[in-house]
Amino acid sequence: MTAKIIDGKLIAAQMREELKTQVAKLKEKNIVPGLGVILVGQDPASISYVTAKERACENIGIYSDDNHLPADTSQAELIELIKKMNEDPKINGILVQLPLPDHIDESQVLLTINPQKDVDGFHPINIGKMVAGEKAFLPCTPHGIIKLLQRSNVKIEGAEVVVVGRSNIVGKPIANMLIQKSDFGNATVTICHTRTRDLAAHTRRADIIIAAAGRPATITADMVKDGAVIIDVGVNRIEDASKKRGYRLVGDVDFEAVKQKASLITPVPGGVGPMTITMLLYNTVESAKIAHSIE
Ligand code: GUN
Repeated sequence: MTAKIIDGKLIAAQMREELKTQVAKLKEKNIVPGLGVILVGQDPASISYVTAKERACENIGIYSDDNHLPADTSQAELIELIKKMNEDPKINGILVQLPLPDHIDESQVLLTINPQKDVDGFHPINIGKMVAGEKAFLPCTPHGIIKLLQRSNVKIEGAEVVVVGRSNIVGKPIANMLIQKSDFGNATVTICHTRTRDLAAHTRRADIIIAAAGRPATITADMVKDGAVIIDVGVNRIEDASKKRGYRLVGDVDFEAVKQKASLITPVPGGVGPMTITMLLYNTVESAKIAHSIE
């Protein structure tokens, strides 16, 4: 079997068109959704993610308040800026790009964000609501994965899903979302990680594999059942002298080999990545609608 490619760029573009229409309708009511963006430091990957988020806002008509702060910004200064954004009616969502420099306590920073503006879904209140199955801002990468599966007509209910990776940003929340009694849940989920004894024994049983380990070739063809659906969340830089920038991006999956066995597979780049930004825009528009009591 040769897998069909799940085109994240295309699905993201379709969703962004839908959001653009919604933003235009809000503008007729003099409402402009606003996103406060905060980046601390010069991490090259973070700079490129944040720049892409700012461009995407501009593209669909969301106002973005961009704050690129030096690496030596103090925790107190950062918290002060977040508190200002919490009070600013032009700002419906606050995005603090992670990771933060070591001298800043990430959990203290995330706790400062008003949960009603927490469009990343990282505040403990939103995490708790998500786990309890209550309405909450859902974290963008897992939410984007759900949209990719739904829009590719993958049956989630009853599926055996193996999640590889247990990060707070992807592994833990996607596993939680997939077990909910909801139209995007009802799956049977196994979470694997670096201490899992026999990873392949788990992945070989999976109808859906979600690879979020942060390591190239974590999933090879021998670890995949025929016809499985493969979602690759990895974004790894591999040195490549043939490229002008000196590297290329690969996921966590041995794409060329696994493609021969899977039924559906996401590429890297162009799979999950574009969906993360799209869901941030989605949450920001939702937040603006809630703030103005619009259905
Ligand atoms: N760093 C890596 N992914 C994310 C994300 O989705 N949101 C934020 N704020 N930081 C990240």
